[in-house]
Amino acid sequence: MRTLTGVQASGKLHIGNYFGAMRPALELAQKSEAFIFIADYHALTTISDPQHLRENVMEVALGWLACGLDPERTVFYRQSDLPQVSELAWILSNVTPMPMLENCHSYKDKIAQGINPNHGLFAYPVLMAADILIVQSNRVPVGKDQKQHLEVARDIAGAFNRQYGEVFTIPEPDIRPDVATVPGVDGRKMSKSYENAIEIFGDEKALRKRIMSIVTDSQPVEAPKTNLENNIPLQLYKLVGSPGQAAALEAKLRAGGYGYGELKKELAAVLLEHFAPFRQKRAELARNLDYVQQVLRKGAERANAEANRTMARVRAAVGLR
Ligand code: ADP
Ligand code: TRP
Repeated sequence: MRTLTGVQASGKLHIGNYFGAMRPALELAQKSEAFIFIADYHALTTISDPQHLRENVMEVALGWLACGLDPERTVFYRQSDLPQVSELAWILSNVTPMPMLENCHSYKDKIAQGINPNHGLFAYPVLMAADILIVQSNRVPVGKDQKQHLEVARDIAGAFNRQYGEVFTIPEPDIRPDVATVPGVDGRKMSKSYENAIEIFGDEKALRKRIMSIVTDSQPVEAPKTNLENNIPLQLYKLVGSPGQAAALEAKLRAGGYGYGELKKELAAVLLEHFAPFRQKRAELARNLDYVQQVLRKGAERANAEANRTMARVRAAVGLR
């Protein structure tokens, strides 16, 4: 069994990234072979400042290592250290029907937001398929927003195999239902690009302020609270608090006399406590960036060996060599 996942180098890591994709991937990486990479080619679809891109790559690298990625066990690399993925993406483009890409929600959403689409944005899912297929991954832990991209990757792999023979493993998505879509402070999906994220490594004061800004309904402090299924602070609390702690909080809310301000303070406390060891580890790693670079170089070597093996088969299958 082989696991792969990637996070774009497009901003600061948040708790949606962590619970939706990073934690499941790190769990699987302890039990089986895993490839984890920083998607910097993909980040070019949103980041055009080179310095900003380099900083984001380092930010995501530090984040994974601080959250417990063991670079001895796991192949950890930067996507652009594997230029074979862009060659594979081109080859895969030729078995990818246009309507399949035109139907992708993430692409349609960007157009709906008024973004003038370029070819990179359109072809994004093909590059993602190449990331997965180049290491023959069986399992891909991601949040629900990536479900359709995984279906595209599976369809592309199937189309290639039918046309040229069995070259690719068909990957399975691994989407954990309880954390598939972690809500942001405004109630939409938490995202690096919506200004609604609770960052894992953000400044403590800013973090508390962000948490206090979570939207709730307007039931007053004294009211026995109803409609708690849609309460965002409580949903976020359940990600980190034990079931017993969450049940106790829910009981206090239902009883009345306990307001959302208190709830948010409690949430900030448990979140900070949960991520404290990671935040400390990140601070240590940030003082040793040479080590981080060295980890990525080593990971690139191991990933390259795997990519070259797949590409030799792909080139032979399509008649390029
Ligand atoms: P963002 O949407 O913040 O830019 P990415 O697109 O880089 O984040 O996502 C990296 C991983 O984190 C993907 O597997 C994605 O599905 C997951 N993820 C992102 N946001 C959330 C969320 N709010 N809930 C659950 N998983 C998420
Ligand atoms: N598109 C993913 C995201 O935005 C990041 C990504 C790129 C990825 N390539 C991947 C995730 C391959 C899993 C597998 O979240």
